Amino acid sequence: MYLFFPIMMFGMIVTQMGQAGASAERIFEILDAKSDIVDKPDAIKLPPVKGNVKFENVTFRYFGGGEPVLNNVSFEANAGETIALLGATGSGKTTIINLLPRFYDPSEGKITIDGYDLRDVTLDSLRSQIGIVLQETTLFSGTIRENIAFGKPDATQREIEAAAQAAAAHDFITSFPDGYNTHVGERGQTLSGGQKQRVAIARALLLNPRILILDDSTSSVDLTTEAQIQKALDTLMQGRTSFVIAQRISTVMNADKIIVLDKGQIVAQGKHAELMEEEPIYAEIYNSQLLPETHSIQG
Ligand SMILES: Nc1ncnc2c1ncn2[C@@H]1O[C@H](COP(=O)(O)OP(=O)(O)OP(=O)(O)O)[C@@H](O)[C@H]1O
Ligand SMILES: [Mg+2]
Repeated sequence: MYLFFPIMMFGMIVTQMGQAGASAERIFEILDAKSDIVDKPDAIKLPPVKGNVKFENVTFRYFGGGEPVLNNVSFEANAGETIALLGATGSGKTTIINLLPRFYDPSEGKITIDGYDLRDVTLDSLRSQIGIVLQETTLFSGTIRENIAFGKPDATQREIEAAAQAAAAHDFITSFPDGYNTHVGERGQTLSGGQKQRVAIARALLLNPRILILDDSTSSVDLTTEAQIQKALDTLMQGRTSFVIAQRISTVMNADKIIVLDKGQIVAQGKHAELMEEEPIYAEIYNSQLLPETHSIQG
């Protein structure tokens, strides 16, 4: 027995070491991975833009030889317009949005902002002009103030409060004992989904970008909060070129252009009234997928 157990244990340890070695190799592969998207050696700084965005025959594959996820997508967004993206799950809405801040480059075709090809400008100068508010927002550990001022560390308290007020976040922030110095994240106060979303809206407002990316679905929040978030989003979108993954009727009604995607292709684009009349696929999505407008809350 004294001999048998150690030998058995030894056998187990040897297999486990093999597994651990393979796992460690994969972890180091990820740590060492370099982003495919880098600045060109002669990349220029994107000057402050007006926000004319143009997709020209953009085809995109996530993998070299794979099926194209976007197929010959062309559309134009004029400065200040709201573009609603609509389509079934997997139709390519998120993919279109990922191409704008250059998380990926198109496989074919090009995307321009004010005539600048995105591949010719530096990532910093591009991404600093695009605000992003998604449904699932992650805040980092730190105070609420730091989270709002993330894109603009030198913002004054007055600017931060003004942004929070416009984002309908000021009231819940000041209801915490520590106010704007409340810690969030792992060891701090936990914020609800709706509260996080409003902090993200305040952050985007403070950054004051010309181009906005939004997912207008609100997390599971009560009606009052939802109406507040909708109002904050409307404020945020004013005067900016906004791309919205539309989940709600009010968004498509107010959009300057609706883009209907199906399996990576644009099957229709235009305004709500035209599409309703001329495009059965739009009418179908409108009736089956969009959420009704929330009732506005008095007071
Ligand atoms: N990182 C990825 N790698 C490979 N394929 C992907 C990746 N992300 C998405 N896809 C594929 O690309 C297609 C389009 O996905 P996308 O996320 O753009 O759809 P979506 O319109 O945003 O859908 P949803 O409404 O569900 O969010 C899908 O077929 C999806 O499987
Ligand atoms: Mg998506």
